[in-house]
Amino acid sequence: MTKKVHIRTFGCQMNQADTEIITSLLQDEGYVMTDSEDSADLVILNTCAVRENAVEKIMNTLNNLKGKRRLRSDLLVGVIGCVPQYYREKMFGMSDGIDFLAGPDTYRQLPLLIENAQQGIRGANLAFIPEETYTGIEPVRTGSISAFVPVMRGCNNRCAFCVVPYTRGKERSRPMKSVIDEVEQLEEAGYREITLLGQNVNSYFDDNAGCDFAELLERSSRAAKRARIRFTTSHPKDISESLVRVIAAHDNICNTIHLPVQSGSTRMLGLMNRGHSREEYLEKIAMIRRCIPGVTISTDLIAGFCGETEKDHRETLSLMEEVRFDFSYTFYYSVRPGTYAAKHLPDDVAEKVKKRRLDEIIALQNKISGELYAAQIGNVAAVLAESESKRSREMLMGRTATNRVVVFDREDYKPGDLVSVKIHASTSATLIGRPQ
Ligand code: SAM
Ligand code: SF4
Ligand code: F3S
Repeated sequence: MTKKVHIRTFGCQMNQADTEIITSLLQDEGYVMTDSEDSADLVILNTCAVRENAVEKIMNTLNNLKGKRRLRSDLLVGVIGCVPQYYREKMFGMSDGIDFLAGPDTYRQLPLLIENAQQGIRGANLAFIPEETYTGIEPVRTGSISAFVPVMRGCNNRCAFCVVPYTRGKERSRPMKSVIDEVEQLEEAGYREITLLGQNVNSYFDDNAGCDFAELLERSSRAAKRARIRFTTSHPKDISESLVRVIAAHDNICNTIHLPVQSGSTRMLGLMNRGHSREEYLEKIAMIRRCIPGVTISTDLIAGFCGETEKDHRETLSLMEEVRFDFSYTFYYSVRPGTYAAKHLPDDVAEKVKKRRLDEIIALQNKISGELYAAQIGNVAAVLAESESKRSREMLMGRTATNRVVVFDREDYKPGDLVSVKIHASTSATLIGRPQ
């Protein structure tokens, strides 16, 4: 009888939140979670398909697990999440080390899939269930300071490069009441930071309650006054002034917005089907900065998308100079079969060129972040301590409300404390300070 389960989570915060839901579902069935792969009877890989290298990582992990299965014939391996949803039953042919497959909408069926696998029946449940929001399942949290609260699932956008609409299906929102109840419970349990999650949180809408994301955010901030409230990810075409005003009006909603732009060229944004131009993006940034003094903005950027010229690339660099993003997640484009771009746009930027452009983007971001961080020296920031610093046991690591990482002298503080820290040094990714 398989009892001990180890879940390895890849990909985005939605997947991390899903792992907490799956843990709850399996514990209810009597399974016991273990942090150690070696002591597990069942290993579940909760996977990401967003870029080619993300899928390669899963295949390497499966290969390593095959070695373990040779030594332990009763070890079961399940692959769940975005990769099997994307490749479907074909996955069984990609590795002979898989016992079952499940997609993001079918986690309630995991106990059945596992039972079958124990009897030697290889199964897959990869249905799209457009109404599934896992409402009613209380996630088993991994942390005690910060918590994710998924508010919506799926995505109705069709960015030309992106697999997410194919792996997570149609957009659907959780009932407002269930989100707010969860936020209240988290605050009562002492959580200090709550992040509302969705692929495109701005399009949250509870039809029955007539509640949009601006209202949900406002209600969340009232429901957990002692916690910091964050949210991610926002789509530039959907971010509204009413939402930005809610952020500005509530002290516990963090003054930071992650607003992926992908490219600084209007021509590329059109090919990517992002639904806005460079100028419209810059107008949104100006509106945000006008409404929220001191706000920080971060982004995602893709180098070398189909047809990108040196001129387009330079427009990305000039947009970065203009906005001065606090940080950015940067990628070079990789073709995802089945997407609009894979079907209709040639992947015509040479790999060498993609990588060089990505390096230029990273170098510029490091320079900008370095300057923005250096400008903080001498300031005092309210830092929520998260953990011991990796550098030293004498230091703690935490974040400002604007999402900047701060490492500071531990003194008598502990994770979970909100500490006033005076900044005395910086790198391009970290502020360094002392409690004052
Ligand atoms: N929903 C979010 C949005 O629209 O901004 C982002 C979701 S996606 C999981 C995270 C990031 O991965 C994207 O913003 C994009 O920069 C990057 N990405 C997605 N598909 C990609 C691809 N085919 N090649 C390279 N990067 C990709
Ligand atoms: Fe992908 Fe675009 Fe949806 Fe984001 S908004 S998940 S990039 S399709
Ligand atoms: Fe990856 Fe799926 Fe998230 S493809 S980025 S794990 S939604």
